[in-house]
Amino acid sequence: MKTLGIETSCDETAIAIYDSNKGIIGESVYSQMEMHAEYGGVVPELASRDHCLKIIDVLNEAMGKHSLDTIDQIAYTSGPGLLGALLIGESFAQGLSTALEIPLIPINHLEGHLMSPMMEFPEISMPFICLLVSGGHSMIVDVKAKADYEIIGQSQDDAVGEAFDKVGKLLGLPYPGGPYIEKLALKGNPNAYDFPRPMIHSDNLDMSLSGLKTAVLYKIQKIQDINQDVKEDIAASFQKAVTDVLIAKIKKTIEKTNRSDVIIAGGVAANKYIRKKFKELENTLKIRVYYPDLKYCGDNAAMIAFVGSMMTPSKHKSIKSKVRARWPLNELKE
Ligand code: KG4
Ligand code: ZN
Repeated sequence: MKTLGIETSCDETAIAIYDSNKGIIGESVYSQMEMHAEYGGVVPELASRDHCLKIIDVLNEAMGKHSLDTIDQIAYTSGPGLLGALLIGESFAQGLSTALEIPLIPINHLEGHLMSPMMEFPEISMPFICLLVSGGHSMIVDVKAKADYEIIGQSQDDAVGEAFDKVGKLLGLPYPGGPYIEKLALKGNPNAYDFPRPMIHSDNLDMSLSGLKTAVLYKIQKIQDINQDVKEDIAASFQKAVTDVLIAKIKKTIEKTNRSDVIIAGGVAANKYIRKKFKELENTLKIRVYYPDLKYCGDNAAMIAFVGSMMTPSKHKSIKSKVRARWPLNELKE
């Protein structure tokens, strides 16, 4: 069975084909990042317009030599995300499904991130813990069974990716700051500055990142000459502080839940320092740690097509809009 996945929830226009026997057999991602960088963040109206402009080319590239007639069903991101951007993907998906007379399945974007490592590691089985860290979300999810997700911890303020981006801005780095901070940190001393680790000792699984970002701001304001060496040290010290908090929360999660598999997903999961530090937990905590292939950490349609391939499409065809700007993971159970 072939599932066509469509993703347009934010600033990536992406389409992929997942074949139940062969895995991903075609995919294309167009990133609008360069366009939004000029404004220091995603501009929703520009995002919608650009999805409109690029989606046909993205479809053609993803299809390659495959014909649309061979597609059995269409899965598309219906939320959470930017409403205008989601509507472009939904309208496109509805058009294709009507023309091809095949089922249409709305997918939760966060569920796509949760499941993404399973494409590469079929041995992962539920239940497992997922640390979902992106620009808009930072949560620890107990994945009990398909569509049975409990959010057991989350950031009380900034998302982890958002904190990376804000600190990037303070250091004069381009948007989004995450990958640039990782690069700078490679040459820096992670112990140069002792930034706070908010809520690291709290008994719950929640996190807080905004105080850490403010501590970086105050430090920068105090330093006379923010030269390259200082920037590298700040980047490395900030990255270490964030990682320490995430590691402490996952340790506490394992203590509380006794789960043995941990998945790290979302844009921040691309960070190699974080990947390495989490992998080191395998021996100490006797757990297995998985993360998606680098190209599937950020937004992509492969994860949407993959989740779609696990769903049974509804027999009732409906062209009612299903898009939702807000769609928490714990509201998926029917
Ligand atoms: O999942 P994603 O592509 O989009 C959503 O937010 O849904 O995540 C983007 C976020 C941005 O905040 C970006 O700075 C962060 O992921 N990010 C990173 C790295 N690569 C992307 N943060 C830290 N280190 C990275 N290498
Ligand atoms: Zn995402």
